[in-house]
Amino acid sequence: MDNDKPIGVFDSGVGGLSVLRRIRADLRHETLVYVADSGHAPYGNKPAEFIARRSAAITEFLLEQGVKAVVVACNTATAAAIAWLRAQFMIPIIGIEPAVKPAVATTRSGVVGILATGNTVRSDKFADLLDRHGHRARILVQPCPGLADCVEHGELSGPRPRALLERYLPPLLAESVDTLVLGCTHYPFLSPLIQRLAGPDVAILDPSPAVARQLRRRLETAGLLADGGATGGERYFTSGAPERTLQVMSRLLGHAITLETLPERREGLKAQGAR
Ligand code: DGL
Repeated sequence: MDNDKPIGVFDSGVGGLSVLRRIRADLRHETLVYVADSGHAPYGNKPAEFIARRSAAITEFLLEQGVKAVVVACNTATAAAIAWLRAQFMIPIIGIEPAVKPAVATTRSGVVGILATGNTVRSDKFADLLDRHGHRARILVQPCPGLADCVEHGELSGPRPRALLERYLPPLLAESVDTLVLGCTHYPFLSPLIQRLAGPDVAILDPSPAVARQLRRRLETAGLLADGGATGGERYFTSGAPERTLQVMSRLLGHAITLETLPERREGLKAQGAR
């Protein structure tokens, strides 16, 4: 039955685990297949065409695993590739974008800061998001090169992420930002450090609960939710260095996992040819 099929979740690396853990908590009967494209991370500074090819290759791999839906647990890949993926693949594809709408709805100072990758903030999709929701508050956009890479290497609180955040946060705080939007799925793993540096009065918004809700809605509408008797479970794949990635992923999830190697493939050529 299609309801028993797994859900695919992917990211440029380990950051999408912040989305996976939320899906795990909210949809506990579902089976999840996660791909960390750590061998090609970061996506934040790569050409959109490269990200689209990787996203298509990973989606093809997930379809070979029999998935019923795909969650693009990466703001950068969503901005670069989701329209194209939806045109190519006929299953529900759920993306993620910076939580601008809830941020402008809840800010008290009227000033919102957005932390994201360079590619996300330069994308048309992000410009469109600001056009739709950004006018009700002052929005300060801060690209954060290097920050996702810290999480990719399991550095959640050491000197490197601290030095980067000490560069990225003060200009926002000086302008009375009271709400910070985490516009990259790696950043929730840095939340404790960000909160410490920003102070207790700054709210930090992570969009993964909204993604899990949207996934549930899409599965419900399509009649694809796993039935209540299913036990769930996860499989994890990576294109990165297996030992280091395994160590970092187990640490981020807070339990040991088994990690499989993502087979080398033809980078979405099938999908491109079908275009
Ligand atoms: N986790 C990704 C995002 O949500 C991108 C990190 C990167 O590869 O630069 O944007």
